[in-house]
Amino acid sequence: MQITIPAAIKSDFERWLNFLEHEVHFALKDSNDHTKDHCARVLHFALRIADQMDLAKEEREALALAACFHDSRRQDDWLDVGHGLRAADYYREFCYDHKRDFDVRVYLVMAFHDHDDALGEAALKGHDQGVLLYHIFKDADALDRFRLGPFDLDINYLRTDAARALYDYARALWADTWPIKF
Ligand SMILES: [Fe+2]
Ligand SMILES: [Fe+2]
Repeated sequence: MQITIPAAIKSDFERWLNFLEHEVHFALKDSNDHTKDHCARVLHFALRIADQMDLAKEEREALALAACFHDSRRQDDWLDVGHGLRAADYYREFCYDHKRDFDVRVYLVMAFHDHDDALGEAALKGHDQGVLLYHIFKDADALDRFRLGPFDLDINYLRTDAARALYDYARALWADTWPIKF
């Protein structure tokens, strides 16, 4: 099944997809599971959730940045705890080098996306909409877990109603690719 990009997020999605393709460079070139295609799908889920929650542009941009950079500094396709912090550091250097505004929330969301929620929530809680952005981002990333297999995402682990509403859609995207039908 093909991803459908709703009209409400189409222009944002296309602008950030172009950014992901041309501006962000990934360290792990032969990744199977954490490719730019994965980041594009996370971008799509994050924007859909943000639209559903009617978030302001600044928050949408923060989520889009996190989606584009979050897996760009992996060293392998396993747990690789620490890849979030490396990606966050890459984002900070990118902002400095390209004279772009730096959003510390984007930095922290990425730095803690490969850690337990309690740690990330503690890091983000002093920042405007910080915990919400962290939850949305982790849900958007999780919704792409069906690329790994039919049982790789338990709906009970999702944090937001908007992500739970996308669960069946996210699962259906991959149903044709699983070797055994469920
Ligand atoms: Fe990651
Ligand atoms: Fe990811």
